[in-house]
Amino acid sequence: MIRVLSTDRPLALVTGAAGFIGSHLVERLLTEGFAVVGLDNFVRGHRRNLARALKDSNFVLLEVDCSNAAAISDQIKPYVNEQEVETVWHLAANSDIGAGVADPNIDLRDTFMTTFAILDIMQKFGMQQIAFTSSSAIYGQHAAPLGEDDGPLLPASNYGAMKLASEAAISASVQSNLKRAWFFRFPNVVGSRANHGVIFDLLNKLKQQPSALEVLGDGNQCKPYVHVDDVVDAMWFIWLNDKGRINQYNIGPDDGGATVRFIAEEVVRVAAKPTPLAFTGGESGWVGDVPCYRYNVTKLRNLGWSPKRSSDDAVRLATKELFEEIF
Ligand SMILES: NC(=O)c1ccc[n+]([C@@H]2O[C@H](COP(=O)([O-])OP(=O)(O)OC[C@H]3O[C@@H](n4cnc5c(N)ncnc54)[C@H](O)[C@@H]3O)[C@@H](O)[C@H]2O)c1
Repeated sequence: MIRVLSTDRPLALVTGAAGFIGSHLVERLLTEGFAVVGLDNFVRGHRRNLARALKDSNFVLLEVDCSNAAAISDQIKPYVNEQEVETVWHLAANSDIGAGVADPNIDLRDTFMTTFAILDIMQKFGMQQIAFTSSSAIYGQHAAPLGEDDGPLLPASNYGAMKLASEAAISASVQSNLKRAWFFRFPNVVGSRANHGVIFDLLNKLKQQPSALEVLGDGNQCKPYVHVDDVVDAMWFIWLNDKGRINQYNIGPDDGGATVRFIAEEVVRVAAKPTPLAFTGGESGWVGDVPCYRYNVTKLRNLGWSPKRSSDDAVRLATKELFEEIF
């Protein structure tokens, strides 16, 4: 049965709505007064992430493969013919970088082809604005803090390559039929409902194998971490305050990042299971990993936004939240 959305509210389309970040974004958009159509094929997302949003009559969730433009078109027609879509928030992607290393078709389909299909749909229905969740993975290895205008952009993973290709395809669409695009380049995002990432992996390993905690790499990998509440707040702030044609932003804390050793120690501490750490060794945790980087977030700070939490604080809070969910 088709749920009727109020036309008094502006309408947002969110792909990857049932995922970790998507579900938090949906809640925020509803709070900000939007009606929301969420799309997901549940390959990694879960309906339970949207338990709160699904109680709201201004939200509808559609099950669809976002790499299939014809299928999206069929599903969204009743909603977007009724009312113009203010902004498409495109989050659907493969978030399992390792899976994309083993089989690059996964990143092609879920990261690039979803973007390609969404751009097709936007042209077909005359949608004008896209907010895209990109990644630090587009930059590749650089010694200096990463700035939005840095290059050359030589991603180390197929995931990063498909994100960069998506930015390129969106850029081309802005030259033809779109009015505006935002590229949110996240570092590691952590917090409740995460279904991947170092904290999630370590907590699951500790639960299954409590005698020793295997940690990939030498533990010195060091990157910025941002809590999902801060990330959603930054997306909203940038969307509201920068109305250029293409707006790229690194989102993250202005600090030296958190090390994998710190995260592993925090996991053991929060789980209250004194467990020896067993490092597998090597600078990099896995193929496609960029072991250390730092973000230059001057552009975002100058726009007027800073995160509430440092990398270490984001890790501390997320470890507590995920411990509650996993154990
Ligand atoms: N979590 C991070 O640390 C991080 C870092 C950088 C960028 N990002 C980006 O942020 C976005 C959200 O990531 P997340 O961490 O919430 O991951 P997630 O896996 O929880 O969310 C992605 C969602 O997209 C859905 N999806 C995937 N392929 C689809 C398809 N073909 N059709 C329909 N739905 C599909 C999944 O089911 C899932 O619900 C992604 O674009 C991701 O690349 C995340």
